[in-house]
Amino acid sequence: MSNVPVITVDGPSGTGKGIICSYLADWLQWHFLDSGALYRVLALAAEKHHINSDEEAKLVNLAENLNVEFEVAGAGSLVNVLLDGEVATDDIRTETCGNAASVIAPIAKVRKALLSRQRAFHEPPGLIADGRDMGTVVFPEATLKIYLTASAEERAKRRYKQLKEKGINANLRDLSAAIAERDERDSTRAASPLKAAEDAIVIDTSSLDIDAVLANISELVRNTVPGLQK
Ligand code: DC
Repeated sequence: MSNVPVITVDGPSGTGKGIICSYLADWLQWHFLDSGALYRVLALAAEKHHINSDEEAKLVNLAENLNVEFEVAGAGSLVNVLLDGEVATDDIRTETCGNAASVIAPIAKVRKALLSRQRAFHEPPGLIADGRDMGTVVFPEATLKIYLTASAEERAKRRYKQLKEKGINANLRDLSAAIAERDERDSTRAASPLKAAEDAIVIDTSSLDIDAVLANISELVRNTVPGLQK
């Protein structure tokens, strides 16, 4: 599969990764791996089976046998995430589920169990991979590696706005604290910590709107992916 291009987009949540990745997958008509969704589904499955975050062997077993499906409508457009055949799309998007995912994600054996599932997304004509360790661990040979950052304050503001728009009550201070806590956990863990690959292009989106980030990345893609007719 080494001739099938992969673009990795890593970074903490709230940097615009999700929207940028779906745009890229749609533009290029490539596959899309939302690796965070996989960790979130695992956290949801653990809750469903009453498995605690310290029950490592059970979590590894669950990860190895996770019955998850990503329903897509064409390349790039994720429609639904199914756990054991049931729609879990909205359930995995809550703050609680994101935090629970971040708590079980440091377990090295859990990460290993999810590795081949993630690599299975690497199919022609190409893959956009969204996560924390896409460029460092899962696809170290990626064609283009992008690392998005933004200040914790700006990310908390974006999240606050998103939640308000959805009619969900939120408190900016609590959100900031939760974001800082999750960043700390994701970047200080021993197994595949959140960090930019040495050969990643780092883009700070704190003072950029989404169109500016997209214009920047589209240009990088045009200059990096061989034979692209875009
Ligand atoms: O991107 P997200 O917010 O959906 O991810 C939820 C959590 O899953 C994140 O806080 C850490 C974990 N995660 C990970 O450890 N590695 C990835 N490649 C993606 C997510």
